[in-house]
Amino acid sequence: MDATPAFHPALDYVLHRMQEVQGFMSPLDAGMFMALDLAQKGAGIEGDLGEIGVFHGRVTFLLANLARADERVHAIDIFDMYFPNPPYNLPDDFIGNALRLKMEMALFHLVKADTTKEADRVVSEIGQGKTRLFHVDGDHRLVHILADSKIALEATQKDGVIVFDDVFSYLMPEVTEGVMRSLAGRADFVPLALSPNKAYFCPPHLKSRYAAYLIECLPNNLDREVRRLLDHWVLTFSAEKPVIMRHLDLVQGGDEAALHRSILAQQKDFPLPP
Ligand SMILES: C[S@@+](CC[C@H](N)C(=O)[O-])C[C@H]1O[C@@H](n2cnc3c(N)ncnc32)[C@H](O)[C@@H]1O
Repeated sequence: MDATPAFHPALDYVLHRMQEVQGFMSPLDAGMFMALDLAQKGAGIEGDLGEIGVFHGRVTFLLANLARADERVHAIDIFDMYFPNPPYNLPDDFIGNALRLKMEMALFHLVKADTTKEADRVVSEIGQGKTRLFHVDGDHRLVHILADSKIALEATQKDGVIVFDDVFSYLMPEVTEGVMRSLAGRADFVPLALSPNKAYFCPPHLKSRYAAYLIECLPNNLDREVRRLLDHWVLTFSAEKPVIMRHLDLVQGGDEAALHRSILAQQKDFPLPP
């Protein structure tokens, strides 16, 4: 019997292939997605994975590497809907990359839609409350952020995580406004963590569990100062430090039950900063 543990396919993708795919996901955010996925697998949280804004597939392929055998990846994009008039995103780029990376094509559920015009169709195609990890990274204008946030909130299951791209960029204040307007005062999804590029929201009853996985799996990336956002504490992760990922190489080969036990011994909760 081969004693070599199977290498975590998502880690393999992030370390060796992700840079080949044009797009915007950083290694830090990739590590955060993997840590949150590990938390969900440890807690038995099931569901599909989804993304609005596929582009060439950089993030979609990470989601595909995290999906269990019976889970699908909803890849939602305007693609070439208005071709030859922009905005458009040729699906060939995504499909070509998927084939080159030998992705299992049946895993993907491609949804071609202008999310500002067909939000209801998108939700009915991907299902209400069925997605465990949802990445919002479509057009960054306000009307898009409001529509895409609504889709994400409706599609994500009650234990899931929603991630928004570019929430605090001074170049795109509409994203800040749209996400804050959509998430402020909600009891079902609250701020969990911020990276230089993304904002992570989760249900309050799982926040300390998700936080433990982020802190334990990314030990060197935490700005220890816990900050405040929308009346909740939120973890901030630094862009300045090298990205260290821990534990993820033990997935699919090591003693996973022991791994979850040791991470959960560290469940994190923090007082709300003034
Ligand atoms: C910034 S790119 C996504 C980047 C990708 N998530 C990554 O990290 O590599 C934005 C994507 O949003 C898509 N998009 C723009 N307007 C859209 C709309 N109205 N409905 C759906 N998708 C849209 C574009 O086609 C493009 O692929």
